[in-house]
Amino acid sequence: MTEITRDDHDRIRAQFPSLAGDTVFLENAGGSQVPVTVADGIRDYMLSSYVQLEAGYPLSRHCTELVDTAHEFVRLLMNGGDGEVILGPSTSALLQMLAGCYSTALTPGSEIVVAQTGHEANVGPWKKLERFGFPLRWWEMDPATCTCPLEGLEELLNDRTALVAFPHVSNLLGDIVDVRATTELVHAAGARVVVDGVAYAPHRAMDVEAWDVDWYAYSTYKVYGPHMAALWGRRDAIAELAGPNHFFVPDDELPYKFEVGGASHEGCAGILGFKDYLAFLANLGDSREFDRSAIESAFDTMIACELPLQARLIEYLLSRDDVRIIGPNHSDPSRVPTISFVHSSKSSAEITEVVDRSGIGIRHGHMYAYHLCEALGLEPDDGVVRVSPVHYNTMGEIETLIEVLETAMG
Ligand SMILES: Cc1ncc(COP(=O)(O)O)c(C=O)c1O
Repeated sequence: MTEITRDDHDRIRAQFPSLAGDTVFLENAGGSQVPVTVADGIRDYMLSSYVQLEAGYPLSRHCTELVDTAHEFVRLLMNGGDGEVILGPSTSALLQMLAGCYSTALTPGSEIVVAQTGHEANVGPWKKLERFGFPLRWWEMDPATCTCPLEGLEELLNDRTALVAFPHVSNLLGDIVDVRATTELVHAAGARVVVDGVAYAPHRAMDVEAWDVDWYAYSTYKVYGPHMAALWGRRDAIAELAGPNHFFVPDDELPYKFEVGGASHEGCAGILGFKDYLAFLANLGDSREFDRSAIESAFDTMIACELPLQARLIEYLLSRDDVRIIGPNHSDPSRVPTISFVHSSKSSAEITEVVDRSGIGIRHGHMYAYHLCEALGLEPDDGVVRVSPVHYNTMGEIETLIEVLETAMG
């Protein structure tokens, strides 16, 4: 495993100016901080080349190329082969757009299976298709294990199943779902998968080719970048749909046919700033070209930083018999450090209120995993307390949080 020295970690933290402030950022599953390369990328773009794309003059040609390069980088980041990367303002917006496309493409009688563990971004858009005559079938969670078992999915699949929508990692539970095995099962039934990778992407290198998925979405603002999102689609899945952009945009003008209004140009510059940050992380150990192995190396560094933090936090929560971890109660790498819990007598709101006063950012509630909270018998508005460190957090911050939690929980 990659070894991270104290010096290395200090150098990582120095890339994020906001970390020098008073707030301790432990609500990263809501949105992460950005390295200076991302902010600089956006600033430079806006101050030196803020023009519209596709005109013939040099500056416009430069901007067109930059936006194309951002798409190419995201494709490499996702290991997207010859699939297409569609950029948009958020995963919620991209999945609404995708569901809109399917509403006119599905054959009558088609069914859509949706995991109960999903974030509403990958639930609501499919539920809305019921009014077009495409019923939703719940892939139910087993409340004892907080997982959606594959056997449950197997029972739901039939020759009417068109799509199966599920999260790679639930933004509340933190466990990593076996996307490859799930996709194999779904493909064997002749259906397609729509995977929500939002809670996975900040912690592990994505690899849509290895997983053989059809659609995979993640939000760039939770992966140290600007407030945007990406949806990768494999070519044959895209070919089944009519892109929603203007009638005069040719069907084969991809990804633009699926990017209504285009992607944020300055956001694309920010996304390329994230590429520079990954190169920095990859080069902590040795210097190399920027390629897939650099991306994997950068994520290995992040994993090495995160594992001790999740281990300590879980050890602390397990040491209290008045606390129940919602999700896996181990700290193996088969989970990410998005850790939720409930207290036996105090509400989640009471606990976060005390933590909020200390300047540590965490959160409570259903986090838009509304159906999951209901399935667990939790009152969704109070939901869970969620702590979500990432690689730039320190053990000192976790220890400080633990001290505050001791006060909050008594
Ligand atoms: C797992 C998961 N999926 C989807 C979303 C929605 O992402 P966006 O805010 O980009 O619409 C979130 C946001 O919190 C999330 O955590």
